[in-house]
Amino acid sequence: MLFNPREIDPQLAYKLLASVVVPRPIGWASTVDAQGHANLAPFSFFMMITSSPPHIAISVGARDGEEKDTLRNIRATGEFVINTVSAALGPAMAVSAAEWPPEVDEFAAAGLETAPSAVVRPPRVAAAPANLECVARQIMPVGGPPYGAHLVIAEVVRIHLRDDLLLENNRVDLRRLDALGRLTGDWYCSTEIQYELHRPPVGQ
Ligand SMILES: Cc1cc2nc3c(=O)[nH]c(=O)nc-3n(C[C@H](O)[C@H](O)[C@H](O)COP(=O)(O)O)c2cc1C
Repeated sequence: MLFNPREIDPQLAYKLLASVVVPRPIGWASTVDAQGHANLAPFSFFMMITSSPPHIAISVGARDGEEKDTLRNIRATGEFVINTVSAALGPAMAVSAAEWPPEVDEFAAAGLETAPSAVVRPPRVAAAPANLECVARQIMPVGGPPYGAHLVIAEVVRIHLRDDLLLENNRVDLRRLDALGRLTGDWYCSTEIQYELHRPPVGQ
């Protein structure tokens, strides 16, 4: 089958893309508004862009033509935290993704404790195995209605890692990190099954 995304139902285009670009990491973004009220929501349009200095990106789509709280808060403060979603935190992540009104603190709604960040105002998810403190560097509109989004490119200014997770040789214990991956709809995958694939030595 061959599809022209500009000619098919936008929902089908979304579903096709969100089903074949899998598994996706989940950036669980905490933000605060100008008054300091906390907000928490997951974003699977999330990626690492470079490591020198570290930059990540999240894409925040429109909701009924309006900007989501996360984007509004990032515009207001320029800051956010990306919290790693371990499998154990999956149910709380799902609660935080409900379309809560702006005045609702999703940390409280999901029964999550906050921990202060080192240099940005938004709090961290205390139970997350890792947290990235981020400062927004660019916000770019991408696409248009109905799902047009804003790509937020941010520099990671602090990295928090739970004490038991750093192994020798600068490796992180990925079994203990137990990160959740997003498939499509309400489907997720775990990182429990892991295996190595070696690149062949070429030209030696
Ligand atoms: C696992 C998961 C991943 C999601 N990824 C995105 C995403 O990449 N972009 C987006 O706009 N919404 C995404 N959503 C939906 C938002 O989390 C949802 O609209 C949320 O209510 C936004 O909250 P806010 O208004 O507090 O920013 C995702 C939801 C789930 C459950």
